[in-house]
Amino acid sequence: MPQFYFPKGFYFGASTSAHQVEGGNNNDWTEWEHANSARLAAEAARRHAKAPMRIPDYILNNYPNPLQEENYISGKACDHYNRFREDFDIAKKLGHNAHRFSIEWSRIEPEEGKFNEAEIEHYREVIKALRERGIEPFVTLWHWTNPVWFSERGGWKKKDAKDCFLRYCKKIISALEDVRFLMILNEPEAPVRHGYIIKDRPPAVGNIVDAYVVLKNLMEAHKEGYTLLKDLRNDLQIGISENLVFFEPYNHLPNNYLGMKLIKWWRNNPFFSRLIRYSDFIGFQYYFHSRIRINPLVSRWGIQFNENKELSDFGWEIYPEGIYHVLKDLKKYGKPIYITENGLADARDEKRAKFIEEHLRWVAKAIKEGVDVRGYFYWSLFDNFEWDKGFWLRFGLVEVDYKTMERKIRQSAWEYAKITKENSIAL
Ligand code: BGC
Repeated sequence: MPQFYFPKGFYFGASTSAHQVEGGNNNDWTEWEHANSARLAAEAARRHAKAPMRIPDYILNNYPNPLQEENYISGKACDHYNRFREDFDIAKKLGHNAHRFSIEWSRIEPEEGKFNEAEIEHYREVIKALRERGIEPFVTLWHWTNPVWFSERGGWKKKDAKDCFLRYCKKIISALEDVRFLMILNEPEAPVRHGYIIKDRPPAVGNIVDAYVVLKNLMEAHKEGYTLLKDLRNDLQIGISENLVFFEPYNHLPNNYLGMKLIKWWRNNPFFSRLIRYSDFIGFQYYFHSRIRINPLVSRWGIQFNENKELSDFGWEIYPEGIYHVLKDLKKYGKPIYITENGLADARDEKRAKFIEEHLRWVAKAIKEGVDVRGYFYWSLFDNFEWDKGFWLRFGLVEVDYKTMERKIRQSAWEYAKITKENSIAL
C-alpha cells in the first residue's frame, strides 16, 4: 500500500478547552448550568422517550447519562486542572507533538481588574509540562466562557467589552513567554448564534440586533488583540479558529447551486473574510457537511440541509471528504493552515479510528495538491463536558470514568498513534 509522509515538523495532537475539562470553574456557564440542569434533564427524558429519538442503552448505561441532572453540571469535569501532568503523559505516549487548550479568563481575572497570580502560575506550569514532554502548546485565550463580573456588567454587548478582554489578553501573554502559537477566540460565531438567537446557551437573552453587536465586538476584539499582542511579542503566531462547513448543492440545478452559494457565504464567510488580514495562520474545525436542496416541497423553509448517512452518537453526519474541499477553498488565502478540531462522539469507539484515518487521507490529498497544512488536532484528548449536552457525548481518544476519574486509552487512540509516531499514513 502506498504511504503518504506528512511534511517534516507536522503537528499531530488533540484539542481541549478549559471549561470542558478542568473542573472547579466559576464563570457565566457555571451559573447557567445550575439554572438549567433540571430543565435539560426533564426535556431529554421527554425528547428521547420514544423511537427514533430513543437514546441507545449503551449510552443510558453510562454515568452520567442525558436523563440525569448531574449530566448538565460541569462540576469537576475531568479534573484536568489537577491531573494535567498525567494527562500529558498520555498524550506523549500517544505520539502527540502538539496540544491545543484554552486559558480560563475567569480564573485569571476573578474580579474586575484583579488578577490572580497563582492561576497565572498554574498555566505557566501547564505550558512547562507540555514542553517537558516535547509537546508544542497551541493556546486559545477565549473558548466561550466569561467571568461572572463580565457577564453581569453586560457581557459582550457592552461597547467597552473588548477593552476588558484585551486587558486580560495583555496580562496573560506577558506572563506566558513560552507560547508560540495563539488563537485569541474560538469560533466566535457559535456562542453568538446560540446565546442570542437560539437562546439555548448563555446568556440566552437578546435578539438579532444584540447578536450583531456582539459579533461586531468580538471581531474588534480579535483585530485589536492581534495588533496589541503582536506589538508585545512579534514572534507570536496568532490565528483564528473557526468552524467551517463543507457545502455542496444537492445537484447542479441553478436553485440548489445558488442557494448553496448564498448559505455558504452567510455561514462561512463573515468572520473569516474580515479577520484574515489579522491572522498569521488559519485554524479551523471541520465537523459538518451540508448538501443544500432548495425545494418548497422538502421542508417548511424550502431548504433541505442534509441526507444523513453514517452518523455519530450526536447525530452528526460523518463525511471525511468534506475536509479536503474546505482545505482547497482555504488555499487562496496563502496562509499556513491548522485543523484545530475534528472529531466525533462515539461512546463504543466503533467508528473513531476509521474516522481519523479517512479524514487524514483527505488531508494528505490536499497537501499533495499544494495546500499548506501544518497540523491536525483531534477533538478531544479525552471525554469531556459537551456544553448544553453535558457529559454523555464521548468525544475522547481517552475514556473518562466520571465516578473515579480513571482514564482509559481507547483502541482508536492507538490507531491514531501509529500515524502520529510515523508521521505518515497508508493511502
Ligand atoms: C467546539 C468544542 C465542542 C466541539 C464539539 C467545537 O465546535 O469548539 O468546544 O466541544 O465543537 O461539539
